[in-house]
Amino acid sequence: MVFKSLTDCYELANGVKIPCIGFGTWQTPDGDVAVAAVKAALDAGYKHIDGASVYGNEVSLGVALKESGVARDEIFVTSKLFNNVRGYDETKAALDSTLEDLQLDYLDLYLIHWPNPVAFRDRWAEMNSESWRAFEDQLEAGKIRAIGVSNFHANHLDALEKTAKVKPMVNQIRLCPSDTQPEVVKTSRERGILLEAYSPFGGSGPANILKAPEVIGVAEKYGKNAAQARVRWCLQQGYLPLPKSTSAAHIKANTDVFDFELSAQDMDALNKLTGYESPFPHPDKTTW
Ligand SMILES: NC(=O)c1ccc[n+]([C@@H]2O[C@H](COP(=O)([O-])OP(=O)(O)OC[C@H]3O[C@@H](n4cnc5c(N)ncnc54)[C@H](OP(=O)(O)O)[C@@H]3O)[C@@H](O)[C@H]2O)c1
Repeated sequence: MVFKSLTDCYELANGVKIPCIGFGTWQTPDGDVAVAAVKAALDAGYKHIDGASVYGNEVSLGVALKESGVARDEIFVTSKLFNNVRGYDETKAALDSTLEDLQLDYLDLYLIHWPNPVAFRDRWAEMNSESWRAFEDQLEAGKIRAIGVSNFHANHLDALEKTAKVKPMVNQIRLCPSDTQPEVVKTSRERGILLEAYSPFGGSGPANILKAPEVIGVAEKYGKNAAQARVRWCLQQGYLPLPKSTSAAHIKANTDVFDFELSAQDMDALNKLTGYESPFPHPDKTTW
């Protein structure tokens, strides 16, 4: 897939078009900072905002969308059902609450945020299946345009597909050097699921990949910075990157990725990087 701008899209299994880079909002403080960040993203041309109820800033996202005056059908908005909510009625209520916070009538994409919450560890498969039934009904009702999952491995996808009428269209997972999750990538692709890459810069931890000399070296060959090389790497891998920033300069710079192409050799070098991030805990062992 060759992308030329932020308006270019991947296509999901149900034909819905999803803009090729999403703006991340985790750890963006609620209030003025979140409003300013989302407005800066819209000004920079992002057409896709990645949110979640647990990020605690959906009201601010809603304010930014409203104040920016962007037409609803020109922006793609994602939210996620968090781990404290499972079950048919509970999921429908959570979606309504998110829509109210965002001041929207519908979501473009709704994801189950984690497959195996501690609160439901003894019956996660059954509870995901009940929530998924609500996802499917709300998809049918037009309150969501596409549905998917996040942090799901093959066992979680297998379990969901036993009762699903509609298969997940997206799996949003962590994809950064040292945490490339080849098994999850393979099984998602075999099922026709688009992979979204979260923490493309390794997140905000101390071993930030953006400082890695190997990444900086590759980026400099193309007159780009490490963040731009990382976003471009995601696109060339066929992943949908979700860069996050609260800096207007970074927000804009992270979109300047459409006028160069990493060589096969440089893609390979970035693919082989290790030692910058610890692999994430298995979702069956998380403590949340
Ligand atoms: N589904 C899930 O479970 C899950 C989990 C994690 C994340 N996500 C999603 O993925 C998004 C991205 O992941 P993330 O927030 O973990 O981290 P990330 O996007 O990998 O990295 C964010 C960090 O990079 C910095 N940064 C951004 N652009 C930069 C640039 N051009 N130069 C230097 N530093 C730069 C940011 O600082 P500044 O703000 O100062 O620029 C911030 O410290 C999230 O916001 C969220 O939407 C989903």
